[in-house]
Amino acid sequence: MTRRKIGLIGGGQIGGVIAQLAAARELGDVTLVDVVEGVPQGKTLDIWEGAPVFGADSAVVGTNDYKELKGSDVVIITAGVPRKPGMSRDDLLNVNVGIMKNVAANLKQYCPDAFIIVVSNPLDVMVWACQKLSGFKPSKVCGMAGLLDSSRFRAFVAAEIGVSVEDVTAFVLGGHGDTMVPLIRYCTVNGIPVTKFISAEKLNAIVARTKQAGGEIVNLLKTGSAFVSPAVCALEMAESYLKDKKRLIVSAAYLNGEYGIKDYYVGVPVIIGENGVEKVVELDFAPEERDAFNKSFVHVKEMVDSVKL
Ligand code: LAC
Repeated sequence: MTRRKIGLIGGGQIGGVIAQLAAARELGDVTLVDVVEGVPQGKTLDIWEGAPVFGADSAVVGTNDYKELKGSDVVIITAGVPRKPGMSRDDLLNVNVGIMKNVAANLKQYCPDAFIIVVSNPLDVMVWACQKLSGFKPSKVCGMAGLLDSSRFRAFVAAEIGVSVEDVTAFVLGGHGDTMVPLIRYCTVNGIPVTKFISAEKLNAIVARTKQAGGEIVNLLKTGSAFVSPAVCALEMAESYLKDKKRLIVSAAYLNGEYGIKDYYVGVPVIIGENGVEKVVELDFAPEERDAFNKSFVHVKEMVDSVKL
């Protein structure tokens, strides 16, 4: 059996951590592409030289040439400029859409059958642009955000209760920005509603922190944004595709009428398996949840509509 191949576009912090984790878990051979000379080569050489000790036989190579992506089963895109303190994800829009044009042309040329996971911000616009520019089937292009936002929410809830993070489930839907929608009603500790453990006031504070969690890290780091948690989440989605696990993961997915939305990408629960995004799961919203979700979608829509491809 041939090994699976994981292509990474963008040799920044997130790309570096994904390369390392993908190799350590032997999910496949890794090819990291970046336009900056030396960076992808240096990062991957470093990882590969550690492989004998962390015990993995994955090949890990870095290159400035997109053609090395040929044969990739999954491509994770992190290329683009990250936020600086005081910037919103939306401020990155024009620069990063410009970068996506080049990325999409190369995807089309070198790995037209790959499953694409976009991580670059502003996420909901970048994933939409990637699908439009590449012309890939919408089920083969999705964005990583909801899993990260949900993971942050879960971490905060678990710490507040004093329970294992593994036992807290949560959904954060909508756009990957300040309007995101953490759904308290779907947050449980092994099936027990979270409201049994945490007061409404504290939960509201956790919701507020979740919405700002990316910015909290940007403000602390000052020179970049979160990279370990986004990398773990992107890889989780890739793994579900590569192993046909059919995980139910909140992802930025193309909607074709689901949730009353057509031809936009928004964060919703989906099932990821060997065919990519195999199913969009529609939740029943309470009226205030529906309002919050719609508000978040309007924000995504305004941004997408402002883009000229
Ligand atoms: C964040 C970036 C990765 O939320 O969007 O930290």
